[in-house]
Amino acid sequence: MLKDSFNRVHDYLRISLTDVCNLRCQYCIYEEHTSFMPPHQLMQADEIDEIAKVFVKLGVKKIRLTGGEPLVRKDAEDIILKLSKYPVKLTLTTNGVFADKFIDTFKRAGINSVNVSLDTLNSDKYLHITRRNVFAVVWNNIQLLMQEGFHVKMNVVLMRGVNDMEILDFIELTKEHPVHVRFIEFMPFEGNEWSEGKVISYNEILENAGEDYSFIRIADEKNDTAKTFKPLNHEGTFSVISTMSAPFCGNCNRMRLTADGKMKNCLFSNGEADILSALRNAENIIPLIEECVKSKAHSHGGQFNGEYKAVDPSRIVNRKMINIGG
Ligand code: GTP
Ligand code: 5AD
Repeated sequence: MLKDSFNRVHDYLRISLTDVCNLRCQYCIYEEHTSFMPPHQLMQADEIDEIAKVFVKLGVKKIRLTGGEPLVRKDAEDIILKLSKYPVKLTLTTNGVFADKFIDTFKRAGINSVNVSLDTLNSDKYLHITRRNVFAVVWNNIQLLMQEGFHVKMNVVLMRGVNDMEILDFIELTKEHPVHVRFIEFMPFEGNEWSEGKVISYNEILENAGEDYSFIRIADEKNDTAKTFKPLNHEGTFSVISTMSAPFCGNCNRMRLTADGKMKNCLFSNGEADILSALRNAENIIPLIEECVKSKAHSHGGQFNGEYKAVDPSRIVNRKMINIGG
């Protein structure tokens, strides 16, 4: 079992399959033209499998695949099926563009829950945010996933002046659809032009939601990032992921592997353990993993604490979000 120095058990591993993405969301990957990692630097399918096997042996119960966009990777299907043999809850976070091509793979792999990013319900605005004109594709794929019986969580990164005026429209969606909308407070990463003024906080979201809807709070699962609410008589729910205004680090059980095989003990951690190089040198990776977990800071990778309005993004040392995987 992997425990950090605050006695938090770590049993959830997020594996980034690639830093490549077919979208260019402004809050994630700022430049249109960007360079991606050279292929030899990425974990190969067998290496992912081997590393995952060790994590499972150390107590991991849930694996989430992320990117970039995980489904752009040519051997995504092979990797998903390889990982499906482990006794874990296997799932992924995707932008949804290729989800229709993977329905059978997901089913074969026992995946029954998928998180899809969709920051607006307006196709012109989608083009503005992502720089790609694929709103209809994603929207149709979300519907398809729901029809096929998947539990769909819709990730909405709220940014002031961009999509905060759509909060009620997103909640309205949950009336007829069994979809789980998650409003995410905008977080600072390299190159994403974060400022505290752009963050729509948990309190603001609830205030806005309360203008049109009555809802009840649903009990969280032990390690949830999201605080969830059920509007009365709606099929779906909405949640808030309040990293900035109401952090949930106290219950954190997450570890991350970047696409180039570096382990991060927190989304905001600066230090990394080079698991892939150790594996390629035929070294034992278990001590590296254990040390990495032990050195985890109590909150936000030790990079900021307290009032989010005082956070100075220029002082945070981290990868770009596209190179972490969310
Ligand atoms: P579940 O496993 O369904 O709870 O998904 P998730 O919320 O962990 O994953 P997802 O990839 O859908 O991410 C949704 C949002 O939560 C993104 O903005 C992530 O960056 C954020 N998030 C995921 N893990 C962490 C974490 O460990 N700390 C913080 N602060 N935010 C996280
Ligand atoms: N703040 C909050 N969430 C973010 N994501 C990407 N960048 C940010 C950010 N700066 C979300 C994506 C995706 C998830 C993996 O992380 O929207 O749903």
